[in-house]
Amino acid sequence: MTTRGILLLGHIFGFVLWFGVTFTVSLISARAKRTGDRTVMAFAYRSSQGMLKGPGLIGAILAIVCGFGLTGVMEYGYFEPWPNHWMFQMQLMGVLAFLAMILLQLPNAERLARAAEASAAADEDSEAFVSFHKRHALISSVIGLMLLVALVLGSLKPV
Ligand code: HEM
Repeated sequence: MTTRGILLLGHIFGFVLWFGVTFTVSLISARAKRTGDRTVMAFAYRSSQGMLKGPGLIGAILAIVCGFGLTGVMEYGYFEPWPNHWMFQMQLMGVLAFLAMILLQLPNAERLARAAEASAAADEDSEAFVSFHKRHALISSVIGLMLLVALVLGSLKPV
């Protein structure tokens, strides 16, 4: 068992958790919206918020912390565009996705869950709900895409 092996395990396990939650939340949100039932939507957005704040955030922290640990152990250099451009791009994608999660996705998910619960109680969609929902779909899609790009970079790196 090497330090690299342990860090790589944490890095990949964290990514799997992070991406898994991001993907699941998108599916649940889309399906709940399609039912047209505001109680179902309120439940789905509250559950999504809980999943993002719990396992999603734990996965993201694990992926980032172990990624920085691996960078140190493998002596790749932090945010050095050359010679390992794939590593630089993976670091950038991962850190940007993490910042987007902390600064945009998590606060918006909380606001969306609250707006969905208020809409269910009033039995009509509030303007806030519509706007938070659009933002939620956009932010989550961008984060999911950045994670996939980082995965491709890490997997198809030149040997
Ligand atoms: C969050 C999105 C990320 C994904 C999907 C991802 C994916 C991967 C994958 C699939 C590998 C395995 C490559 C291999 O061993 O051949 C890997 C390794 C690695 N990742 Fe990431 N990564 C991400 C973010 C980061 C970040 C933010 C950093 C640094 C701050 C980082 C640093 C590293 C390092 C140093 C390795 C080891 C490469 C080697 O052993 O040669 N990664 N990553």
